[in-house]
Amino acid sequence: MLSSYFNEDYYARYYKDGATRVAEPRYYDSLARFISGYSDLLGFSVRSIVDLGCGIGTLMKPLLRQFSKATYTGVDISEYACDKYGWELGSVSDYSPARSFDLVICHDVVQYLDNKDAKAAIKNFSDISSGMLYFSVLTEEDYLENCDKSRTDSIVSLHAANWYRAKLSRYFRNLGGGAYVSREVDVALYALEHLD
Ligand SMILES: C[S@@+](CC[C@H](N)C(=O)[O-])C[C@H]1O[C@@H](n2cnc3c(N)ncnc32)[C@H](O)[C@@H]1O
Repeated sequence: MLSSYFNEDYYARYYKDGATRVAEPRYYDSLARFISGYSDLLGFSVRSIVDLGCGIGTLMKPLLRQFSKATYTGVDISEYACDKYGWELGSVSDYSPARSFDLVICHDVVQYLDNKDAKAAIKNFSDISSGMLYFSVLTEEDYLENCDKSRTDSIVSLHAANWYRAKLSRYFRNLGGGAYVSREVDVALYALEHLD
């Protein structure tokens, strides 16, 4: 997808206009509370957060309310969003920071990537993660059965949930609810806390 696709009109339609936006602000607050509660339960100390494909930064304030001692790094491919909000310009598939992050977020982004870049993005999550990953993506099943099509962008590359599960499981343990931990990260998990 061309980065110019993610322009002022795109964010107005899917994020700012109350009549067409994809989610309400309370959703992002709930999500941040879930991530915070679960990472705390598992014993992760979160001092650095990277939000890959952060858009207008819907999760920045909710996350920083929960993780008040953490730094937040927003990364996006949209020149418009980077200029307006001060994010780092980069792609989720090859963003290569000098450091790793305690919490990697990638929310509702990878459906815009082709197969090769989507696979590279999942490997990249593992390369830059030293704690928990939160990952959500629109799958074929979600597009057919779950989403409100009037509020969901259809110009995307959909895969079945099992396609993602197979790619993720190479690098991550699935903690449920969209939470993952890299297989390289040493964390004690009870048997029923993880799905694989
Ligand atoms: C559906 S929006 C999600 C925004 C944000 N994550 C949220 O949930 O509010 C998709 C975002 O992904 C960004 N994006 C698309 N392809 C990307 C890529 N390859 N690397 C980084 N960001 C990308 C777009 O610019 C856009 O901001």
